[in-house]
Amino acid sequence: MKFFLDTANLDELKKGAAWGIVDGVTTNPSLIAKEGNPIEEQIKKICDIVDGDISAEVIAVTHREMVEQGKSLAKIHKNVVIKCPLTRDGIIATNELAKSGYRVNVTLCFSAAQALIAAKAGAYIISPFVGRLDDIGQDGMDLIRQIVTIYENYGYKTKILAASLRSTNHVIDSAIAGAHIGTMPFKVMDALFTHVLTDKGLEQFLKDYSKVFHDAPVPVGV
Ligand code: E4P
Repeated sequence: MKFFLDTANLDELKKGAAWGIVDGVTTNPSLIAKEGNPIEEQIKKICDIVDGDISAEVIAVTHREMVEQGKSLAKIHKNVVIKCPLTRDGIIATNELAKSGYRVNVTLCFSAAQALIAAKAGAYIISPFVGRLDDIGQDGMDLIRQIVTIYENYGYKTKILAASLRSTNHVIDSAIAGAHIGTMPFKVMDALFTHVLTDKGLEQFLKDYSKVFHDAPVPVGV
C-alpha cells in the first residue's frame, strides 16, 4: 500500500519525507489556502520535498477551464497529478486530459456509481472520502470495499486512493479492503508508529543493558 500525506504544510512534509515511507502527497484548495501561498508556488515547493505523485486540484468549474488549469498545473513538475472534482464537467475534463496522456485524480467521490464513472473516464486515481461519509452516518469503508470489487470485476487500472482518513484504524481497514493508496494527515501517519509495548519494551531493553554496561542511552520517545 502506498502512503500519501494529505497536507500542503512544508514542515510536516519534511518530517514525513525523512521517515522514508511517504510515496506521494495530496492537496486540495482548502489545504493550499491554509498555507497562504498561491498553488503554483506551494506545489513546486512540495515537489522539491517529496518524490512521488503530487495531486494539485483545479479550482475551475467548467470543463474547458479545468483542462486549461490542469495542463498548467501539470507543467509545474513531472510528478504533478491533476485533481478534478467528480462533477459532470470534471468527468468531461478527466476524459479529455486522460486521452492527452495526463494523469488525473478524480476527487470528492462518495459513491460506487461515481467511482465507476471515473474509471470509465480514464482516471489515474479515484479518491473516495471515507471520513466524510462516516461523518454523515454512513460506512465510508464500505465504499472502499465496493470500489475494490467493481474495479477487480472489470480490470480497471484506476488506482483506489482512500481519502479523508482520520485514524490509524481507517488506514488499516483501507489496507485490508485493498486500497492501493491511503492518504492521511501527518498526525495519523505519526500515530501509525506508536505502540505502548514498543515503548515499554525498549525502555526495559536499555535498562537491562545499562545495569551491566552503564552506557545505554535513555529512550526519549520511540
Ligand atoms: C484528499 O485528497 C482529500 O482532499 C482529503 O483526504 C479530504 O480529507 P478531509 O475530509 O479530512 O478534509
